[in-house]
Amino acid sequence: MSANELEATLGRLRAAGQEHLLQYWSELNSDQRASLLQQISAIDFDRLAALWSSVEKLDPQDSPAAKAARATPPSKIVRVPRTEADHAARAAARAIGEQLLREGKVGAILVAGGEGSRLGFPHPKGMFPIGPVSGNSLYQMLAEQLLARGRRSGRPIPYCVMTSDATDAPTQAFFQRHDWFGVDPADIRFFRQGIMPAVDRHTGKILLARKHELALNPDGHGGMLEALHKSGTLDWLRERGVECLYYHQVDNPLARVCDPEFLGFHRQLGASVTTKCVVKATPQEKMGALIDVDGKTEIIEYSDLPKDQVERLTPSNEAVFAAGSTAIHVFNRDVLEHLSASGSELPFHRAVKKVKCLDEAGQPTEPTVENAIKYERFIFDVLPLAGNGLVVEARRHDEFCPLKNATGEFSAEHVQRSLHALHAGWLAEAGIDAGAAHPIEISPLVALGADDLKNWKPKSPFPPGPLYLGPQANS
Ligand code: UTP
Repeated sequence: MSANELEATLGRLRAAGQEHLLQYWSELNSDQRASLLQQISAIDFDRLAALWSSVEKLDPQDSPAAKAARATPPSKIVRVPRTEADHAARAAARAIGEQLLREGKVGAILVAGGEGSRLGFPHPKGMFPIGPVSGNSLYQMLAEQLLARGRRSGRPIPYCVMTSDATDAPTQAFFQRHDWFGVDPADIRFFRQGIMPAVDRHTGKILLARKHELALNPDGHGGMLEALHKSGTLDWLRERGVECLYYHQVDNPLARVCDPEFLGFHRQLGASVTTKCVVKATPQEKMGALIDVDGKTEIIEYSDLPKDQVERLTPSNEAVFAAGSTAIHVFNRDVLEHLSASGSELPFHRAVKKVKCLDEAGQPTEPTVENAIKYERFIFDVLPLAGNGLVVEARRHDEFCPLKNATGEFSAEHVQRSLHALHAGWLAEAGIDAGAAHPIEISPLVALGADDLKNWKPKSPFPPGPLYLGPQANS
């Protein structure tokens, strides 16, 4: 790099008050220097400065506490079916969704750029072997659902997988190593989300992870909107005729990928964004709640909900914050296009966290108290921007058990138990005696639900012990 280039970078850094990023320059070799400059060039310092100084500027009416106080339960909501009429409405929605799939109007987005810090798995979370019997990865369980759904509608479903700097290379290599789980690679598109630097919580200065490395994190699942646009993925989807985008997260293998009923309600009721909810297990459960605020459906994070609001009831005794978000959505493609073309940006949220960084002596240090602010965007901030939201309720045991933690609730053991219970329930509903088989796992290539098993007969009784119904079970 020339002296001029270095001088120009230094000028940018001085203007932003971030010149400390080059303080170890003289100690770096040429590769490290090039890498550091490349990281610095990717930072939008104006955005960062605006975020740092915007803290006090939030309109009090827009504060989470003020919104929580004005919130009512979502008014446009399809509840789980209880009556004959509800079941008929579900069947009608399913037919509409199946039609959309047959016409090739559905695409899917999988967000897989997260750091997975709570789980502590040393690879992208999607590679975690979650199948209770097969040991299949989260990526495989989700991709095989997409494959099966596409096969039965006779149209492949375009699959857009969002990665981050940390997950991109290992994720792409994993898909390739597993032959894209049977999906035609021409139907898969990987796109990478942006990054944000972590800053010192007291000074706003960007933290250094190493002398030649900034402390960077992916910009949140809400980075999807900008990344879809910048990577040309929205254009790719439009050229393929996709109108509705099924959005899911990598950690929930119970998600019904491209569920026709869900897609059908979205289309039939003319929504811009539709979200699946489950009833919160307790008012205190740590999950975002779907609410209406000023006539628009949105999601309030559990961490933003003031304690005195958590159990609030409506005058008719309905819990205001009971509809927990599963983070499963359908977006209209043209709504996302409009939002990105009109420059609508999702807001950044601040999280005060412990971030490993260099101390004043230039030594790597593990902080004991929260030392940093991380900035992240949340995909659910699309809801109030898009307007016209709809909520569809699902039963938790059918569709929601994400892998989040190393132990306890939402650990691998918990998710595997939920998968077993779901699949054992399908066999029972189809009238198939599972005997003493345990645990039970059914490949999406065999069945996507109990209905697919109703005409299926095992050739011989299942032996006791682990049971995996894989693709060869059909032959
Ligand atoms: P979480 O918010 O649960 O985060 O992500 P995480 O990274 O999986 O785990 P922790 O919080 O570090 O323990 C929910 C979904 O959003 C994706 C994740 O990959 C997961 O599918 N995500 C999250 C992204 O794609 N990008 C991000 O920047 C953050």
